[in-house]
Amino acid sequence: MFMTHSTASAAEALPADPIPPAAYELARQGLLPRHLAMIMDGNGRWAQAHGLSRSHGHRAGAETVRGLTRMARKLGIEVLTLYAFSEQNWSRPASEIQGLLTLLVEFLGHELDEMRKNDIRLVALGNIARLPLPVRITLQHAIDTTARGRGMILALCLSYGGREDLVQATRTLAKRVAAGELAASAIDEAAISRALWTGSLPCPPDLVVRTSGEQRLSNFLLWESAYAELYFSPVAWPDFNEPQLCDALVAFSQRQRRFGGVAAL
Ligand code: IPE
Ligand code: IPE
Ligand code: MG
Repeated sequence: MFMTHSTASAAEALPADPIPPAAYELARQGLLPRHLAMIMDGNGRWAQAHGLSRSHGHRAGAETVRGLTRMARKLGIEVLTLYAFSEQNWSRPASEIQGLLTLLVEFLGHELDEMRKNDIRLVALGNIARLPLPVRITLQHAIDTTARGRGMILALCLSYGGREDLVQATRTLAKRVAAGELAASAIDEAAISRALWTGSLPCPPDLVVRTSGEQRLSNFLLWESAYAELYFSPVAWPDFNEPQLCDALVAFSQRQRRFGGVAAL
């Protein structure tokens, strides 16, 4: 009697797994993207719809990041890339930028232990030198602390732009050509891929998800997404949780990727 009672209460005390079983089933069948990239959009409109300030929207969005990072890790996704702040987002009001950077620092502080425990390696992609020094210090600490993580790469795109990346990669390669280290004829797709900020990632994105109803890339992974599947959801980022990501993964599993070839029968 006592045993039954204590077992039942222990089970009740455990929070239910928010990840839908269908997502685990896709993982079991090997139908998940190796690299999932997400354009986290709609925090501001979500906040407005709830009568809150934009900064409340970003705070709610950070909760989504926590949940979906856990989900991706549990499912065994190799790389999760999140578009957190674009090069063009520097044109926003200083107070909003400050709020976003504060949230980033808080996120890194709170999540560092969990990232380490879960064997997650954090990387930052973008024009990182443009971030204020205290943010860079916190970021570098998190990157160094998680450097040996092998369970999943969490790539945060910060001050990122796909065109800006192509410009910096082109300059890097041009300098090597000018220095006589590289023949112009040796510049191929692999050389360009390696020179990009994403050059250390193991594979390009298989699935790019954008939330909040906008159907554009907004300068995200322009080169890398050449053959990514695109998934657009009308749901704003703060409401895009485990069930919504599961829907995106199911849709991805039903796509037929041909890479320019012909469909397999
Ligand atoms: C995404 O939400 C977060 C960032 C781009 C930093 P937005 O702030 O773009 O929200 P909307 O698109 O204005 O609703
Ligand atoms: C894209 O969202 C950038 C990030 C999600 C970080 P934006 O809200 O900046 O994109 P636009 O302005 O609607 O194209
Ligand atoms: Mg937006």
